Amino acid sequence: MNLVQSPARHCLGLAEAVIDLSAIRDNVRTIQQRLAPGTEVLAVVKADAFGHGAVQVARAAIEAGATWLGVARADEALRLRAAGLTVPILTWLYDATDLMWLSDVDVSVSTVAELHQVISAPTVRNVHLKLDTGLHRGGSSPDQWIELTRAAAHYEALGAIRVRGIWSHLSHGDDVDATHSRRQLQLLRTGITLAKRAGLDSQVVHLANSAGALTLDAPDCNLVRIGAALFGIDEVGAGLRPPMRLVSKVVQVRRIRRGEGVSYGHDHVAPRDTTVALIPLGYADGIPRVTAGRASVLIRGRRTPVIGRIAMDQFVVDAGDAPVEAGIPVTLFGDGSQGEPTAAEWADWAGTIQHEIYCGLGSRVPRRYQEGQR
Ligand SMILES: Cc1ncc(COP(=O)(O)O)c(C=O)c1O
Repeated sequence: MNLVQSPARHCLGLAEAVIDLSAIRDNVRTIQQRLAPGTEVLAVVKADAFGHGAVQVARAAIEAGATWLGVARADEALRLRAAGLTVPILTWLYDATDLMWLSDVDVSVSTVAELHQVISAPTVRNVHLKLDTGLHRGGSSPDQWIELTRAAAHYEALGAIRVRGIWSHLSHGDDVDATHSRRQLQLLRTGITLAKRAGLDSQVVHLANSAGALTLDAPDCNLVRIGAALFGIDEVGAGLRPPMRLVSKVVQVRRIRRGEGVSYGHDHVAPRDTTVALIPLGYADGIPRVTAGRASVLIRGRRTPVIGRIAMDQFVVDAGDAPVEAGIPVTLFGDGSQGEPTAAEWADWAGTIQHEIYCGLGSRVPRRYQEGQR
């Protein structure tokens, strides 16, 4: 075995996720242009903005016109407030303890029991009543809605809460024909009528996610909750741009002979003499282990296949007889414009969705922000 190694020439660390904030802003504007006038955008920045960095993405989305932020959990909302973001924030998963220390954040309420929890907290709070219109993943069941809206109206009259929103979540937002979504909208419409009858007049009504915002005509709603689209996950062909590029560099190069095995268990055996290159990212960084033998990366403009088992911190690619040396850049994914794989391809290789590729990107990979792709 012949070792060829040279010092690194690039100073970007072992790997980094480069995030183009102008793409986030462009994606917000692209969605906005397709919305009915007066419809506002809530930017969903949960799970650290799908791994892109919640605070940076939130700021970019607001600069482009988003007027709300949404997160799953209370601590995520708190981080946004601590960063100085002042727009309304909605959170939909919290417990009684969260309510004690989290003020100035709107919370979702699905049951009368949750409502009681909210009014027991020390601050008056904005709530969004959630109706289950068919997703069956949280929300008030339709037969408990009247009781919930009446109880909410009662506490609002006492000044204990303010019902700022009524909402639901789509089950088939990316279905272009929108059959399910229209049925859900119809149920939400009934829910709004009943809420009005109970004496509620909410400021916002929201149902659609990214894809739903583009496929469903929903005049009853004046807010859409946009997550995937911010990150260029383009489920209905809206012309969105992925902001993230995952780059690394070759850290070591070896020549191996035909018949030699590569990585744990020698799952891969070289079919010919070849050059293998070591990339310092592994499944602890979010590179899915199942993509071994399917995935490729871009090195010097060439798709270079991932071979052998992906380890926790590193994997190997087969460069064939191409000239590669330690230190040269490697692109794992980007927007595809340079011939590199996209996150969508990694998702296919892993048998998952892009959301999981982005969210899985580990904390060892620094995020670097820039304007435009350089
Ligand atoms: C409650 C809720 N609303 C909106 C969204 C945004 O959906 P999408 O990412 O499809 O835009 C999500 C998840 O991402 C969600 O959980």
